[in-house]
Amino acid sequence: MRTKDQERRERGRSGYELSLHAFERLNPDLTADGLAQRLESLRPALRELRAKYQQNRVGHQYSDEMRQAYLLAYFPPYEEMARRVLDLADIPLPPSTLDMSAAFLCAGPGSDASAFAGLLRDRRHSSSNAHIALFDLNTDKWAPIQQAVIASGALASIPANQIRSYQIDLRESSSVAAHKAIFTGCDLVMAQNFLNEVHDDRHSIESLRTVWSWLRPGARMVLVDLPYDAWHQVSRKLRRLLHDEFVPERTIWVNSEEFRFEGPPKLLEDHLFSREWSDTLQAKRKLKYGCLVMTKA
Ligand SMILES: C[S@@+](CC[C@H](N)C(=O)[O-])C[C@H]1O[C@@H](n2cnc3c(N)ncnc32)[C@H](O)[C@@H]1O
Repeated sequence: MRTKDQERRERGRSGYELSLHAFERLNPDLTADGLAQRLESLRPALRELRAKYQQNRVGHQYSDEMRQAYLLAYFPPYEEMARRVLDLADIPLPPSTLDMSAAFLCAGPGSDASAFAGLLRDRRHSSSNAHIALFDLNTDKWAPIQQAVIASGALASIPANQIRSYQIDLRESSSVAAHKAIFTGCDLVMAQNFLNEVHDDRHSIESLRTVWSWLRPGARMVLVDLPYDAWHQVSRKLRRLLHDEFVPERTIWVNSEEFRFEGPPKLLEDHLFSREWSDTLQAKRKLKYGCLVMTKA
């Protein structure tokens, strides 16, 4: 029986440890006091982010401070959620000798990509044959955070030159079409926590359909989000758009209470979360996420 410590070592750096490490890379040369102060300076951005999420309408404009707050407060639980989803979705991996390509839409800092890299590690898949594409509207803005996350070891097993970031706007068909060649070669396309930002835009739903139409047989599309109204709208719209092509293999409900999830280190609790903690992460423990897993026929 493996101990928790052994499991953690095998899994590599994860959760808050990883996001804090990435944060320190983004804010080099800070003394211990300076780090604590810098964390405290992010409290207004975290409050703003949380307030926007509570209204279910985020908009896609995150300030630099909000992106760093996202890294510290949201990356860890969402990486954990994606790990859980990918485990439950039972994504079939090709033999290690064959290429495996995954694309993440609305990737932000790369929480779900990091979870995918963890899945390859857990299943002992040789990730030297894995390719990852991170797509986001604001790729230029997220790129430094993605780089810090990668440099902190989140996707360590995948060769750096096989992890690429691309700009995409799901509202623009031409922007999506520019990446067709990537999608046609994908085994997995995943979008997680995207409805807040795209749910009222029918072009974005059309784009999901277009991407789906390009996938090869056996490829999977995994959509994960909170099951608020938008979730049902999206699945209804997709159903309508795809007619009989769209057969969700299943909807998985992920309860955040089940996350194998460790609390934040004291540094974060004391200097960032002290007041925010109950509103961001505790709340998530009680949330149920919906996850549509679709396999292309
Ligand atoms: C809440 S973040 C989710 C990040 C990550 N998937 C996760 O679960 O942690 C949503 C992302 O969607 C991106 N986004 C918003 N509108 C978009 C659009 N029209 N096209 C592509 N990405 C978009 C934002 O830039 C943001 O990074």
